[in-house]
Amino acid sequence: MLSLEEQAKKNAAYKAVDENFPENAKVIGVGSGSTVVYVAERLGQLPNKSDFVCIPTGFQLKQLIISNGLNLGSIEQFPDVDIAFDGADECDESLNLIKGGGACLFQEKLVAGSAKKFVVVADFRKKSAALGVQWTKGVPIEIVPNSYAKVTADLTRMGASKVILRQGGSAKAGPVITDNNNFLLDADFGKIEDPKLLHAQIKALVGVVETGLFTNMAKKAYFGETDGAVSTWS
Ligand code: A5P
Repeated sequence: MLSLEEQAKKNAAYKAVDENFPENAKVIGVGSGSTVVYVAERLGQLPNKSDFVCIPTGFQLKQLIISNGLNLGSIEQFPDVDIAFDGADECDESLNLIKGGGACLFQEKLVAGSAKKFVVVADFRKKSAALGVQWTKGVPIEIVPNSYAKVTADLTRMGASKVILRQGGSAKAGPVITDNNNFLLDADFGKIEDPKLLHAQIKALVGVVETGLFTNMAKKAYFGETDGAVSTWS
């Protein structure tokens, strides 16, 4: 039996796929994290699953696409994505998102930004009045490795109360290396009043590859609730 949170993720993912999968879709983007596991599962149950390819945003989904018997493609082969499904660490009512808790934010933004429609799947814990309120681990920022000291200083000057170079499982493991061979910083800006502006300011820093602030991208968000229902924001 699934926990309350897992059941909520599954309900959101199944409903999002059932309500949004476009007729005759050929290219489907699938993000990363624990909620999209159920997106891949649902896609794998579709009778026409041999008619479309799935584009992963990292190693985890590559494996899940294969294990669910789906066709695996790459964003280089298929840059025109019909629809992308992905999780979020936090979502506000304007569908601004913080993403990258799982370190895959660059490819997630690449795939979501290539999609005609981007749909978020999440459980009830991800709904937030404003970014930075529910998700208190900071904004994930992918950076070129040798820029970490400079970008940390830049972010601190910009007002981040804490900037952490994300580490692997132990001190011995060293910094987390993304699928693009980069490092990740988590920068705590507290409650974020203007996510679009903050994204633009961080993105302008030399060394920054991408930020985990997703603005003006998602069209609809599905949230699995504690009572088994699924609510939506759009
Ligand atoms: C991966 O880097 C993230 O952006 C995930 O999409 C996000 O962390 C949501 O993950 P869960 O579905 O596991 O909460």
